[in-house]
Amino acid sequence: MESIIYFSNTIFFIFIFVFCINARSVSDSKYALPKSSFDERNKEHWTMQAQWTLKTKVLTPLNKRTAKNVILFLGDGMSITTLAATRVYLGQKYGHYGEELRLSFEAFPYTGLAKTYCVDNNVADSACSGTAYLTGVKANSGTVGLSAAVKRGDCAGQRDGYNSVTGLMDWAQKAGKSTGLVTNTRVTHATPAASYAHSADRKWESDSDLPKHGLRCDDIATQLVNGRVGKKINVVFGGGRKNFISKKERDSEGFHGHRSDGKDLIREWLHAKRSQGVVAKYIYNRHDLMNLDTEDYNSVLGLFSPDHMPYNLEANNDDPSLNEMTVKAIELLSKNKNGYFLFVEGGRIDTAHHETKARKALDETAEFAKAVEAALRMVDPEETLIVVTSDHSHTMTYSGYSKRGTDILGFTNKMNASDNLPYTTLSYANGPGYRSDVQYGRANLELEDIKSLNFTYPSLVPISRETHGGEDVAVFAKGPWSHIFSGNYEQNYIPHAIAFASCIGPGWTSCKQ
Ligand SMILES: *[C@@H]1O[C@H](CO)[C@@H](O)[C@H](O)[C@H]1NC(C)=O
Ligand SMILES: *[C@@H]1O[C@H](CO)[C@@H](O)[C@H](O)[C@H]1NC(C)=O
Ligand SMILES: [Zn+2]
Repeated sequence: MESIIYFSNTIFFIFIFVFCINARSVSDSKYALPKSSFDERNKEHWTMQAQWTLKTKVLTPLNKRTAKNVILFLGDGMSITTLAATRVYLGQKYGHYGEELRLSFEAFPYTGLAKTYCVDNNVADSACSGTAYLTGVKANSGTVGLSAAVKRGDCAGQRDGYNSVTGLMDWAQKAGKSTGLVTNTRVTHATPAASYAHSADRKWESDSDLPKHGLRCDDIATQLVNGRVGKKINVVFGGGRKNFISKKERDSEGFHGHRSDGKDLIREWLHAKRSQGVVAKYIYNRHDLMNLDTEDYNSVLGLFSPDHMPYNLEANNDDPSLNEMTVKAIELLSKNKNGYFLFVEGGRIDTAHHETKARKALDETAEFAKAVEAALRMVDPEETLIVVTSDHSHTMTYSGYSKRGTDILGFTNKMNASDNLPYTTLSYANGPGYRSDVQYGRANLELEDIKSLNFTYPSLVPISRETHGGEDVAVFAKGPWSHIFSGNYEQNYIPHAIAFASCIGPGWTSCKQ
């Protein structure tokens, strides 16, 4: 008798589960429900919802299988505040209040918090934190793929291989897995670079960025094409074409390259792949990507922009979205029977925050959540570990006591500030959004076009680029061993846990228990 009740309850909650997933996870959904579908004034609404959460948590067994595939999604600068605000932004786009919804990955079963400081600085940059969550070793700011024995700019330290650290890309390759890298920044930017390069300065993206005198170090683009780990990456999609082409040459869109050594690294990449007998292709626009027959190629380099790829809100038809790049990368990598490791960066969240352009930052976060959702639809969750996290926070706050459903990008609506002027729900501790008006005090933002993509949200302290924030970032995990991502830990724990789950790398793994 008891087991029958248990069983029927399970069926009931599976039903609720499916219903809730459809109704409640925010996405590019065509199935947005009217607000009245759930009446929050009803105590049953809250009880049922909490009971459902409880049941799914209690009834979901731990998955201790080996993770054949791993996808690590990194929202650059995607603070917890950014997540909360993006839920509302996306929800409001589809006619909800927004606060009650959640992003695709916020529904993952296990969540943790990672501490992001670097060895030298209290607030991380993308280079030291990338080194931490990709290689498992904390580093100094501005450096990638090197231990903290190397200070920023120390070329000799970079050349001394003793201080080099490698991580998930290398370990996956050694285990016979395919590897891929997707970003909407330059593929040589700090975050992607930390997955394959060793550079004492994140700025050394091409040879023209190296100091003019003294020791010569390999630039990051060269390491992507010729480095031990870089040259084995099967799929590289992103921006930053200029760092692969000579200043004297023009790229497919007519822009000049940035290299001084006269090299054409795109040609070198193709040549090297082909001489290893790999069927490889280079592509440079959305049309090529969408028409790519993923069965035909084992290695694809896609450089879709001379510099960072554009913000989604400013993109045109030639620019693939993060979502589209992710889908194609998974198709290409899934052909390997040993599995794959894919690293996907939503990199423009960070650049938008630096400009205090919150509208762009939230929209980029929404795009990032879409890419995660697309991946979820393509993989088998029983054998694919998906980890979603961020490298560091930003200074954006979400405040006031506005009514539910108030435009997250607008003004608060209960009361004005003490100067009797309205204030925005989102604002920054520092950055270019500072407005000084010595005579009249705080600027009246009602006189500005707050709906513009380029509206700079107000900041307290004037700085030309808003800074990162120092608090912890969230880690969301789903799939094999995802439960080991719960708790509060140092950021460099993440690749150790991924390696454990997928049986790669030199450390303790679930296969060597
Ligand atoms: C806030 O100030 C504006 C004028 O700048 C005024 O129109 C508005 O009614 C005030 N709001 C409240 C809630 O006092
Ligand atoms: C926003 O700023 C960018 C440059 O940062 C510019 O290219 C774009 O046209 C601007 N858009 C609007 C709507 O003002
Ligand atoms: Zn940044």
